[in-house]
Amino acid sequence: MSERVREYISQEKVEARIQEIADRISAEYAGRQVHIIGILKGSVFFMCELAKRLTIPVTMDFMSCSSYGSGTVSKGVVKLSKDLDEPIEGKNVILVEDIIDSGNTLGYLLEQMTMRKPASLKLCTLLDKPSRRIRKDIKVDYTCFEIEDYFVVGYGLDYDQKYRNLPYVGIVEFD
Ligand code: IMP
Ligand code: MG
Repeated sequence: MSERVREYISQEKVEARIQEIADRISAEYAGRQVHIIGILKGSVFFMCELAKRLTIPVTMDFMSCSSYGSGTVSKGVVKLSKDLDEPIEGKNVILVEDIIDSGNTLGYLLEQMTMRKPASLKLCTLLDKPSRRIRKDIKVDYTCFEIEDYFVVGYGLDYDQKYRNLPYVGIVEFD
């Protein structure tokens, strides 16, 4: 089976929207420091573009977990493969995700993070596929784009570890 990628959200649109979200976060956290946590590897491109545009003091950390194998269907099993380097107790934490699909990954991460007693905990995602949500209890604070149920790549998102470096969000089409 071979695949092609069709542009879905252009680089210009993605970056304009990231600027809007960064402005909102900077305004809402004015006078405070924010600790942004990126979920590897998908959130890295989004996290950089967001962080560059924040005007408040920022610290950063990363963690890695996965709920997907090499295919396109969530297995619902979350594995934490790299924990945070720093404690988050008392910090204003924003978890940064590439995409929220079933919500299984975030459901698990939110439970882990809440136990560590941050001062506040919010969620920020580049993409959201609300129609696929299993964890309906998850509230997303900052969403760049809500999308239909397409399998998307680019801007950090992969298919079989490929296409993360595309500067736009694309849809994978299979022949
Ligand atoms: P969830 O646990 O089902 O919400 O899945 C979240 C993770 O699955 C994301 O962080 C992505 O790594 C991956 N994922 C979900 N949908 C897509 C997609 O359309 N393209 C690429 N990766 C996806
Ligand atoms: Mg992934």
